[in-house]
Amino acid sequence: MNRLDWSSSRPGQPLHGSVRVPGDKSVSHRALMLAAIADGESRISGFLEGEDTRATAAVLAQLGVRIETPSAGERVVHGVGLHGLRGSSQSLDCGNAGTGMRLLTGLLAGQAFDSNLIGDASLSKRPMRRVTDPLALMGARIDTRDGLPPLRVHGGQPLHGIRYELPVASAQVKSALLLAGLYGIGETEIIEPHPTRDYTERMLAAFGWPIAFEPGRAELDGGHVLHATDVNVPADFSSAAFFLVAASIVPGSALHLPAVGLNPRRTGLLHALRLMGADITIEHERESGGEPVGDLLVRHAPLHGVELPESLVPDMIDEFPALFIAASVASGRTVIRGAAELRVKESDRIATMATGLRTLGAAIEETPDGAIIQGGQLGAGSVESHLDHRIAMSFALAGLVASGPVRINDCSHVATSFPGFLELANGCGFALQSVS
Ligand code: S3P
Repeated sequence: MNRLDWSSSRPGQPLHGSVRVPGDKSVSHRALMLAAIADGESRISGFLEGEDTRATAAVLAQLGVRIETPSAGERVVHGVGLHGLRGSSQSLDCGNAGTGMRLLTGLLAGQAFDSNLIGDASLSKRPMRRVTDPLALMGARIDTRDGLPPLRVHGGQPLHGIRYELPVASAQVKSALLLAGLYGIGETEIIEPHPTRDYTERMLAAFGWPIAFEPGRAELDGGHVLHATDVNVPADFSSAAFFLVAASIVPGSALHLPAVGLNPRRTGLLHALRLMGADITIEHERESGGEPVGDLLVRHAPLHGVELPESLVPDMIDEFPALFIAASVASGRTVIRGAAELRVKESDRIATMATGLRTLGAAIEETPDGAIIQGGQLGAGSVESHLDHRIAMSFALAGLVASGPVRINDCSHVATSFPGFLELANGCGFALQSVS
């Protein structure tokens, strides 16, 4: 991947317009995987053309699944059935995608063949025991490098269902276990400490697999069949989040974000920003492909600091980098607690945000599970993305309000989740440039 640096400057004008953000990453990964092991042909529309989701498509193709791309954002997946995947002698490269690797590990644990899963430098540092330990309880045999990728998933291991209480709230772990449970004998029941996104559960039901679920619990048994179905992927709330913060902090701004996925397990940032005084309205709330969707209208409003309710944390786990920027320019103090999971994302997001914000002159104190941020004026500076797409995009927001340009080093990973971010952002008034 070529290195790409950005310079983000104060636009000198309000942000305006309609911003159509790309498809949801979580839904796109899951749609590919379930369609791949379904019987029949599934069409996915609104598919995220990001590097993460394309990596998952490439892995499934390597495992013998024919996937066509009739146009950008569309995939036709010729499902091979629950037992139709074929092993590959080559390593399966998940790129930067934790979701890809963890869900595929669950899926591959129940196959007849061995698989080797690898990832990029960032993914190679992410903890995998959270999936391999409970999968071992189901009968899987998976080798790690001291709990980290690469993963060697041994085939031919008979799996059985388990009842498992997740020690951390993680939709990826829950989903990996449910996917392994498709191949297990008996019942797999997953209990969560806090409810997390339920896309796997909803989509399994849409593909015709009997599953019982409610917030915080899911239960299925093995031995059924997935029937191909078409999936409409909503726009990714996590991508919309950058624009919600951008318009909130740039005076005079008003942005319209159409057809954004509003699954309640994803919209914590909306509540957090409203607690801080943001002006965000939801219009035309409707259902699309079994998911709540709405058009968001965000206008500038003066933000103030808050003690963030811990109960919001799992519902906004990917939005903290953007929230850190909002907090650092709000009036007063914001306190974030109960968010230690941020330390094991694409980067240690507490440390990378704290270091970058301090470089820009912010008053931020890191704590083991969060941060205390005193709002004020950001200044110019040069910050590191640490191979983390959301860190790069968040510092692009800092540039909108800093007193001088913010240089963001190595933004190439933005394409993992948000291809075209720079163009879309500039289209509504950002002053973001690629620099060498
Ligand atoms: C995801 C779950 C979350 C989230 C990630 C996507 C998913 O990870 O941070 O971006 O699609 O299931 P965890 O399960 O590690 O919390």
